[in-house]
Amino acid sequence: VRTRLEVKLPPSAGRSYPIFVDAEPGAEARLADELVARAGAAATVGLLTDETVARLHRARFAGALSARGLTVVPVVVPDGESAKSMARAAEVAEAWTRGGLDRRAWVMALGGGVVGDLGGFVASILFRGVRCVQVPTTLLAQVDASVGGKTAVNLPSGKNLVGTFHQPELVYADVTTLATLAPRDRASGLAEVVKHGVIASPELLELVERRAEEACAGDPALLGELVARSCAIKAEVVAHDEREQAEGGRARLNFGHTVGHALESASQEGDAPLRHGEAVALGMLAAARVGAAHGCGDPTLEARLTSLLERLGLPTDLDRRLDASVLARVGVDKKRAGGRLLLVVVERVGQASLLAVEPARLGEILLAANRR
Ligand SMILES: NC(=O)c1ccc[n+]([C@@H]2O[C@H](COP(=O)([O-])OP(=O)(O)OC[C@H]3O[C@@H](n4cnc5c(N)ncnc54)[C@H](O)[C@@H]3O)[C@@H](O)[C@H]2O)c1
Ligand SMILES: [Zn+2]
Repeated sequence: VRTRLEVKLPPSAGRSYPIFVDAEPGAEARLADELVARAGAAATVGLLTDETVARLHRARFAGALSARGLTVVPVVVPDGESAKSMARAAEVAEAWTRGGLDRRAWVMALGGGVVGDLGGFVASILFRGVRCVQVPTTLLAQVDASVGGKTAVNLPSGKNLVGTFHQPELVYADVTTLATLAPRDRASGLAEVVKHGVIASPELLELVERRAEEACAGDPALLGELVARSCAIKAEVVAHDEREQAEGGRARLNFGHTVGHALESASQEGDAPLRHGEAVALGMLAAARVGAAHGCGDPTLEARLTSLLERLGLPTDLDRRLDASVLARVGVDKKRAGGRLLLVVVERVGQASLLAVEPARLGEILLAANRR
């Protein structure tokens, strides 16, 4: 699999950018060539990774850049969501300015969604914005986080509350990096693939349903196919609504994320933190239930998703995890419209829309099972 897709930005942006999905060996050389073609061989590249990716994959990518004459300034952050902080962003910016980056420099975010969000955020504010290349190395980042230009860091009061829109110059998904991914992280990425299928593509959902076990096992050709199809869906949605302003536009991608984010941030304080995709899996079940209870969502979706998510090794024990404190966090979620929550509901697979829900009603529906 070697695919090139194009994200068409609105005319005001004056450009589009490519997403490469490359499942063949030697992708680092092809990426380096793409970068030299855009940045020139004298460019300085700030290369961000976390510790795990620095150990497993950085040498190959940094080597390909250096071999073409580029100056590489590597910065490493600790693994995990806690790296997405204002303090860490300031440290990365400081390290890069000390290391010689200037306003013509490029940033390369090599890693999962954490590194992509943090690297993109720093790129968007360093010298009022430098160019950025996303090189996602987790399935979640390849199918979702690296495409669309949203960057973010977290605040103590909630996830992704500070961020920017900063579209990359290119996205290069080297599918071979996924071979070293932990099964749990692979499953987490599959949750976002399922999300894309549910909101936009019955065929994609059916493909995952047909081949769930192979996807879990990391079949490289299948993963390449899932990444390419997911990126095509996300690119299409983002092209029509870059800034999440259109009704039924980019906001659809938040399916499962309203309750998902609340579960994710609540779990960070306990001893069993959820992966992002795991929280999204649970959040999709919650959204399916709320949609059905309002009479506008597919009433069979919750059961269909439960059986698929179980096969993918994702959590489905929503009722055990929901309580008043999690629901209180839903209120902090930023997708609010005057006191009411905007929730993405799915009328039928492939067809999603927004529903305004009273927070109290959401609590009633979701906690009903616990009271029975
Ligand atoms: N900007 C967006 O549009 C967007 C969309 C979805 C999610 N996100 C964000 O993405 C983040 C989650 O991303 P994630 O799930 O990739 O988590 P992550 O970046 O924390 O990566 C998960 C783990 O996998 C390791 N890893 C990365 N690549 C590896 C590889 N090839 N082999 C082995 N290990 C590897 C990392 O070191 C980390 O320990 C969240 O912060 C979420 O908010 C952003
Ligand atoms: Zn997500």
